[in-house]
Order: sequence, then structure tokens, then C-alpha cells
Amino acid sequence: MTRGLLLAVERAREMGFCFGVRRAIRLLEEAARKFGSLDSLGPVVHNRQVVERLEGMGVRVARSPADLENRVVAIASHGLGPQDMKALEGRDVIDATCPIVARAQRAARDLARAGFQVVVFGDSLHPEVRGLLGWAGDSALATEAPLRFQPWPKRLGLLSQTTQSPDAFATFIASTLPPALARGAALRIVNTICQPTRRRQASALELARRVEVMLVVGGKTSANTRRLAELCSPLVEVHLVEKADDIDPAWLTGRKSIGLTAGASTPDEVILEVEARLRALAGRG
Ligand code: F3S
Repeated sequence: MTRGLLLAVERAREMGFCFGVRRAIRLLEEAARKFGSLDSLGPVVHNRQVVERLEGMGVRVARSPADLENRVVAIASHGLGPQDMKALEGRDVIDATCPIVARAQRAARDLARAGFQVVVFGDSLHPEVRGLLGWAGDSALATEAPLRFQPWPKRLGLLSQTTQSPDAFATFIASTLPPALARGAALRIVNTICQPTRRRQASALELARRVEVMLVVGGKTSANTRRLAELCSPLVEVHLVEKADDIDPAWLTGRKSIGLTAGASTPDEVILEVEARLRALAGRG
């Protein structure tokens, strides 16, 4: 059906593992080799293949501090709030928090100490955001909707989940400025969006403008993977796949070009498998 119709499979200039994810996986692999078994507090990154491979090496995923079984515990790349850190006292801790997340945590803590009402632009249920809120003081909140306060705080500090899009954060800031300025609030904005996220988003958008279909490869629970799909979808037909078998050949019928990108927690081998299946479907009669 697809022979002669699908002419090109093109990769985004930047995609796949970021340095924070590579670092976290390396730390857990080293710990597994050294200790034999350990717990990871939550999945180390939001990718099933990575988590399953680490499980095979002895890394068990614990859902909460109460669920820990091993003396050695790893903190996932998304980081932890101070309460959960405290619950790890007395254990051997492997801290795989991404350095960029750790910097955002320090920004949240410093804003709170300086008396700012902290607002995190992000998904309040995501583990990174829950950790950031833990550092940001009792009054901190996370939202992706325009802010409404009654009364407005005198000092307002804004920062972002590291994997948000700069445009979405800018829109959020723009909606906050008029009411905050009208009430005389002091504003402090910290740009905590990470550079690998920005570069992957820009590469995906550049490609999405030139192809007929985009495939985004990665975990469905991965915030940065879902964001890539959301950003591209106003421009082109987008499908999010976790593995090569998820591809529906019907997506390729009659298409001349397909673009490929992947979330920051998607392993290279999964991307290669997806790409190989696309090329096989493209050449099949
Ligand atoms: Fe860190 Fe950004 Fe990757 S926050 S884990 S470098 S997506």
C-alpha cells in the first residue's frame, strides 16, 4: 500500500536522551553494579523500557518513602522535596536529581526565603513540580491557568517546570503582569526551563513545519515527550508512540514525508527500532 508514497523519514536535529537523563541512568547502573539491589523512589525517568532494564539489574521502584525495602535509595531525575529527603535519613542515598532541576529547587527555596509567594508554572501532579513545591514554602502553588488571588500577594515569584515550553511560560507571565502591576506587587521571574528541552522543542517545531506526519517517540507519562506532541499538533498530524509496534501503517498511506522526534527520556535503541520499522513500512508493497 505504501510503496512509492512515503519518500522520506527525517529526524529532528536534536532529540532523545538529555544529559540529565543519561547522568541519572549512569548513576543507577553504577549503584546496581556496586550494591546488587536498591530502591528508586519513583521511576528514575518516565520511560518504561529504561525502568524495565534497570529492574533487571536490581533497581526496584518504590512508590513512596513508606514503600522502601532496600538500604540504598536513589532519588529520580525529577528530584524530591525536603520532606521526602528527610524521610531518607539513615539510608545510603544516590542522588540522581538532574542538576537543572536542583537549580530550580534552589530558586524556589530562595524566593520563599525572601518572602515571595511562589507560583510554579506546571503540572501540580508531576513529581518534579511536587518536589519544587516542597522547597517553595507553605503558600506555594502550581498551575497552568491564569492566576487569581484574593487578595493578591505583595511579592510574587514565578518559575516554571523545567520541561515547559518558553512560549507557554511567556503567555502565563503576560497574563500575570496586568493584575500584579495594578496591585503594586513586587515580581520576580526565574526562567527555569532547561536548555535541552528548549532545543528539542525548537528542532521538533522546525521539522513539523516541513513534513506531513510527525512521530514522537517516548513514554506517555513523560511530560517533555507529551509537550513535544502538543507543540507540533497545531502544525501537522502527530502520533505519540512508545515502541515500534505502536506504529499503525495506515498513518503512512499516501504520505511523502514523515518526521521523527523523541522525548528526553527515550533510549537511542527505541528510536532506532521505530525508525527501522518506518523505513521498512515505507519500502513495503
Ligand atoms: Fe534535566 Fe532538562 Fe533533561 S531538566 S533531566 S536536562 S529534560
